[in-house]
Amino acid sequence: MRVAIVGMGYVGLVTAAGLAEWGHEVLGIEANPERLDVLRDGRLPIHEPGLDGLIARHLAGHRIIFAADARQISSVEVAIVAVGTHDGNGGWQTDTIRRCLDDIVPRLADDAVLVIRSTMPPEFLPSLAGLVDGLRAAAGRPPLPVMINPEFTREGTAVQDFLFPDRVVVGIVRDDFGAGARTLGTMYRSVDAPFITMPAPDAVLSKLGSNLFLATKISFANELAALCDEYGADVSAVVDAMGRDPRIGPSFLRAGVGFGGSCLPHQVTMTIHSAAQRSLDTPLLRAVDTINHGQRTAFVDRLAAALGGSVSGRRIALLGLTFKPGTDDLRDAPALSIALSLLDRGADVVAYDPMATAREATRRILPALTVADDVWSALDAADAIGLVTEWPEFVQLDWARARSVTRGAALVDGRNALDPSTITAAGFRYSSFGRMSAPLRIPLEAEHSRRRVSDGRFGAPVLRTAVD
Ligand code: UGA
Repeated sequence: MRVAIVGMGYVGLVTAAGLAEWGHEVLGIEANPERLDVLRDGRLPIHEPGLDGLIARHLAGHRIIFAADARQISSVEVAIVAVGTHDGNGGWQTDTIRRCLDDIVPRLADDAVLVIRSTMPPEFLPSLAGLVDGLRAAAGRPPLPVMINPEFTREGTAVQDFLFPDRVVVGIVRDDFGAGARTLGTMYRSVDAPFITMPAPDAVLSKLGSNLFLATKISFANELAALCDEYGADVSAVVDAMGRDPRIGPSFLRAGVGFGGSCLPHQVTMTIHSAAQRSLDTPLLRAVDTINHGQRTAFVDRLAAALGGSVSGRRIALLGLTFKPGTDDLRDAPALSIALSLLDRGADVVAYDPMATAREATRRILPALTVADDVWSALDAADAIGLVTEWPEFVQLDWARARSVTRGAALVDGRNALDPSTITAAGFRYSSFGRMSAPLRIPLEAEHSRRRVSDGRFGAPVLRTAVD
């Protein structure tokens, strides 16, 4: 089957590699000339485990070709739109999808199927069929089947998630004779998972709902961690016991500095915002967002508490910059807002991340932050360590050696990733989220009462602003 994918970002590239792996011929269209040069050179503009090998192999076998524009699109059976929908400012934008439709829709063959894979704002949906029909009519051509095919892949495991999905969701915008669903059924014939067709609004909300639920689980775990701190329980043990109930499940209940990345935070805030514009309140999602940002503030407060009340003038080693391990993505990474907040409070911060491209990008984004090129330089003479991303390099670090190079013994684990007994045995004073360690109990009680006084429940908006 011949498939075109417009937009060679995370979603488009993974889709291209996966479809080529299943034997389809893929035309990857990328308008950014620098990105296109990198791709044609057999390199990748992003880090995604396993993706480079697949792209290289299928480029060499001519199963994938990259193009700068849509001129060759008239020969494909499926055209997939995978362009960005972020406005770069925390909001949605649909201008890129619209431009892309202007460009490709008039050129598509009369038996082609148009698929939108970009995560889109639900309010864009009602205008979609009319937009496509209008472009087809203006070109003197018949209407096309228009489908939604949301992706559920995670950065870091996106290739596996694409090749072995839990489900394939296909939303029908317009498919008068069922050709769209049949064609996509053929495109996904290698998949051994439920192929679910549904009306387009259901598909869009299935995608959003999945991410909103994952975000809710994480914020729930973080509120539970605060309860565990309060009552002297260990949240890891509590979640382990809870997660054995199949109605609950163990995943996405790890407490810490909260969720980052380009998907969860943005989709939570934009859903709140979009619903509010329609006079629909979303109190649960507002709480999810508030709790999530409160975690970043709580992390900075914990570092301050571990240093006797203030980070000013103290040297802090920040371990991890990316929003999670296995990626070089810094979009809405908790580490960046935490670093900013620490710098604002007068700390001397030295950060390190195992991903060289993330270190380079951080130097550009936050020139005031010192970024070390190895973990030992970051730890050297540090008064406190803050772990923000649970890279294996940090989990497996020689912590006794680490203690021999740091000046102070404070360590705050923002991902509950380290083994408290190993860290304590190495000579550190260990603190994490919901696994209360005795020495920090008194300063943290002060922190709790301040949060209660300041906003009564979820963490002070003032503190949140400081970290945002
Ligand atoms: C997320 C979804 O998990 C994917 O299913 C979805 O396809 C994707 O968004 C998307 O919409 O494109 P991703 O953004 O790659 O994937 O990252 P996640 O693995 O979901 O992690 C998001 C954040 O939550 C990370 O910062 C991670 O550290 C944090 N997290 C995750 C926790 O704080 N606790 C947990 O228990 C799990």
